[in-house]
Amino acid sequence: MSSRRRRQIYLVGFMGSGKSTVGRLLARALGWQFIDLDSIIEAGQQMTVREIFESAGEPFFREVEAAALAEISKAEPAVIALGGGTFAQPANVRLIREAGGTAVWLDCPQEELWRRCEQMQNRPLFRDRLSFFQLLEQRLPYYRQAEHRISTGGRLPEEVADEILRLKIV
Ligand code: S3P
Repeated sequence: MSSRRRRQIYLVGFMGSGKSTVGRLLARALGWQFIDLDSIIEAGQQMTVREIFESAGEPFFREVEAAALAEISKAEPAVIALGGGTFAQPANVRLIREAGGTAVWLDCPQEELWRRCEQMQNRPLFRDRLSFFQLLEQRLPYYRQAEHRISTGGRLPEEVADEILRLKIV
């Protein structure tokens, strides 16, 4: 862990947990920069995340994701929305810790995640119910490593952002 706590909040959580929506609100309230990791990857590769998965596969996506995260981890002050799988890569968790950032897990009930993702068909790892819930189960032990957990079930993004502000991370 870096000796200095940086003004960086990383939002962690499964697809559909609201990382980007909450992140934008939080960044606005703090007057910080908002960075969406998937958008940075898409701009760098000139392709959508779905296209990257389809043309080059998930291992390549994870490589560019780790490289983009390493760049972003220099930004400050910033609220950073990670992708659903970013924090499930141990090297990324280490990098965030070493950067002195604070990870906040947006913990949303399974059925609510499913309902939200069903309405948006642009996610390459969103397929059927079984694989969705299996992937979520695999990810939970990683998400639990975040310093803070916020329950987001049935709550508006504004309420979630307010609760993060009340954590007085910075
Ligand atoms: C992924 C989630 C997506 C995106 C990519 C992989 C995952 O981000 O990074 O499709 O592994 O769960 P969102 O969580 O923003 O959907």
